[in-house]
Amino acid sequence: MTTYPKIVVSPPGPIARSFLLKDEHFLSPSYVRFYPLVVESAQGCIVRDVDGNEYIDLNAGIACMNVGHNHPRIVSAIKSQCDRFLHYSNTDFYYREVIELAEKLAGIAPGSFEKKTYFGNSGAESVEAAIKLAKWHTRKQLIIGFIGAFHGRTVGALSVTASKPAQKRHFFPLMPGVVHVPYAYCYRCPFKQEYPGCHYWCVDFIEEFVLQKYAPPEDLAAFMFEPIQGEGGYIVPPPEYFQKLKKLADKFGVLLVDDEVQSGIGRTGKWFAIEHWDVEPDIVCCAKALASGLPLGATIARAKVMDWTGGSHASTFGGNPVACSAAVAVLDVVREEQLLGNAKKQGDYALKRLRAFGEHNDIVGDVRGKGLMIGLELVEEKDSKKPASQKAAAVMTRAWKRGIAIVTSGVSTLRLTPPLTIDRELLDAALDIVEDVINEVSKET
Ligand SMILES: Cc1ncc(COP(=O)(O)O)c(C=O)c1O
Repeated sequence: MTTYPKIVVSPPGPIARSFLLKDEHFLSPSYVRFYPLVVESAQGCIVRDVDGNEYIDLNAGIACMNVGHNHPRIVSAIKSQCDRFLHYSNTDFYYREVIELAEKLAGIAPGSFEKKTYFGNSGAESVEAAIKLAKWHTRKQLIIGFIGAFHGRTVGALSVTASKPAQKRHFFPLMPGVVHVPYAYCYRCPFKQEYPGCHYWCVDFIEEFVLQKYAPPEDLAAFMFEPIQGEGGYIVPPPEYFQKLKKLADKFGVLLVDDEVQSGIGRTGKWFAIEHWDVEPDIVCCAKALASGLPLGATIARAKVMDWTGGSHASTFGGNPVACSAAVAVLDVVREEQLLGNAKKQGDYALKRLRAFGEHNDIVGDVRGKGLMIGLELVEEKDSKKPASQKAAAVMTRAWKRGIAIVTSGVSTLRLTPPLTIDRELLDAALDIVEDVINEVSKET
């Protein structure tokens, strides 16, 4: 029997509360915290707060700690890189760590063609680079993004984001030339259709109503999408969706930009989630789990597409050697510890268990996901599918108070993204509590 979670003082405890007061005083109010978890340390799948409570981590630092917290191989790679040098601007000079990582990324990113990588420092930067590269390569201006998408908060990335009004309020005008179309959110189809009877109308709609009416395809540089929408609510498109989108892209010579910032590095049981649809994108954006918590973004493109010339894009810190050494170790650990297999195995199990649970619970509307990227969408009633956002928030907070670190996304979806190292015993311990709390909340009016 696992000894986790361990709650020794009801969170937030006294030490946490003392930090919260200072946080409020000194930190930007633009952050939205899910609940007052003040982290002291973390190891594997367990996070310890400053008051000594130990939580089973279903967040993995928001899908960053795929190899588990403080994996000894990553810590050792970071330490030994620190002993050698911390920075020397890959923009202006050379070092081996960044080259070694680019070579490894070319080997795992989808597509057997040659690839090149640009390194930045975050998910948003990897998206900015993708936007600029798509424009540079095609000499075209338009980008088609998807409703519900989250690509980051810098102005270019924010322009393609369409997830929550709070993210864009007071920031218009943003980058011109972005057109948003509905995503394949089958549980709440924007066209009120049902899969498979819809025959992928959401893709035909793009051609018939967007490209033929107001977004001239000859001006279109790229489709930019998340293969599974993350912040939008863990939304998984149906099996042929991206094949159909690719067909449309090929018809008009449009690039596919695949944002794998949240879904990449093994999260879904494949290196990159788009592999589940067997599609080879032209540009892949990657960050979060890549360097196990150190800031690193990668924009990986077909070598033929990454044809911009010197001076067109760069960043002083991008491809920092410490972050790159961590990332090289992450890729080795994922492979050697067979974490793709574990993500699939534990993810399939969790999906099956949660689906069976959901059938007998009135507020579980939909359970979806791939690997260990799993969403549980809560509703007021199954028939009306009215989103139960307050109930989702209540489940999240109560689960946390009982020792499970879990957060929501979209409007009313609980998201489960534990480290890919999680074993069955810990997963079951976490799911026992999550299900118990959902039962509790569903009985309240
Ligand atoms: C799919 C996706 N793209 C981009 C980003 C932005 O990444 P960052 O917060 O590192 O800028 C995120 C962050 O959650 C994301 O989920």
